[in-house]
Amino acid sequence: MAALDTTTGADTRRPPEQFTLRLRRYNPESGEAPYWDEHTVELEPHRSVLEGILQAKAQFDGSIGIRCSCRAAICGSCGVRINGEPGLACHTHLDHARAASPDGVIEVEPMGNMPVIKDLVVDMDAVHWKKVQRVTPWLLPKQPVPEREYLVPREAMVDVTQSMACIQCGACVSDCLAMEVDPGFIGPAALAKAYRFVGDPRDAERHERLEDLSQDPLGIYDCTHCFKCVEACPKGVNPMGQIMRLRRIAGSDEKIVDVNNGHRHEQAITTLIRDYGLLHEAELIPRSYGGNSWFAKFHPAAGKELLSSLPVVVRGLLRRKLNPKIAIFGHKIPKSDLDSVKRIYETVESRPARYELNLYVSGEDEEEATAS
Ligand code: SF4
Ligand code: SF4
Ligand code: FES
Repeated sequence: MAALDTTTGADTRRPPEQFTLRLRRYNPESGEAPYWDEHTVELEPHRSVLEGILQAKAQFDGSIGIRCSCRAAICGSCGVRINGEPGLACHTHLDHARAASPDGVIEVEPMGNMPVIKDLVVDMDAVHWKKVQRVTPWLLPKQPVPEREYLVPREAMVDVTQSMACIQCGACVSDCLAMEVDPGFIGPAALAKAYRFVGDPRDAERHERLEDLSQDPLGIYDCTHCFKCVEACPKGVNPMGQIMRLRRIAGSDEKIVDVNNGHRHEQAITTLIRDYGLLHEAELIPRSYGGNSWFAKFHPAAGKELLSSLPVVVRGLLRRKLNPKIAIFGHKIPKSDLDSVKRIYETVESRPARYELNLYVSGEDEEEATAS
């Protein structure tokens, strides 16, 4: 009978099999170019990719560089890319990794967006930790400090639990598309960390933190909503979700008007979709820069932006990627569809409070379950 791992459900009695690992090797100090190195190891299929790498290191080549510690998906040390996807080497089964590989060879590379120190080890200090330090990652307590402990509402702590689950592995940083084109972007892990303190009612500098992250051109409005960090995170932290919460609190609750026009841009998108059912691109730039109304195009700031985007518009028209009629008058969708869109807005806007979707905490409330 099969023996199942109680945590992962993996069959731990399957006999050892051969797995081939293709490791990215690179030593910047050697002056030589990176290269691929293959080793075949023999392990039970439920064993981890990390165990495979450590066996290759022990049996074939002690110079393979890999960082690890807990081997239990807790310390965040063993972040790598497996078959092109970021993840924890100690938390990825060999059989799963082989099944996901196009040629049956498990390809392991160092994480992206961070310089390589050696082979699979990246410089977390140079990128990840520097960005975490940027967001003041500690509580700035309200005064006076109570004689005993702070009493915090349970819901408030539930709200920050998701960001507290981060193990600082850097997988989200590795895959962040905004960071790839703009390495200065504060990034998903550090911004998730920022939410951990913005959402904490004991913190005295919520507004100052939000002001800082809103006004920084590399702050919360630099995220492009690509979802890569959400997919990459092995702990369900949902960094993009935390960034969107920071934006909502900054722009809607704290009324922070950011110099990046980030909040105005978001407002313009939501208003245009409410009014047209689809995004009216030609109206988006003026409203993002000149205020959220039809008259925005006459605002000097909007005029400047419109002028600078003129070459792109002309190219779009010449290549027939832009329809002049739609560009000027916007999309027209059937009235019944537009009414449905408007009804969604009315339902959401008529709610007395904003509901934040926290998907991390699951299960049922013990008291409620007992009462029912
Ligand atoms: S959603 Fe934002 S933070 Fe996350 S990976 Fe994409 S750009 Fe980066
Ligand atoms: S948010 Fe997730 S992926 Fe990013 S560092 Fe934390 S645990 Fe790793
Ligand atoms: S070794 Fe600790 S998370 Fe993998």
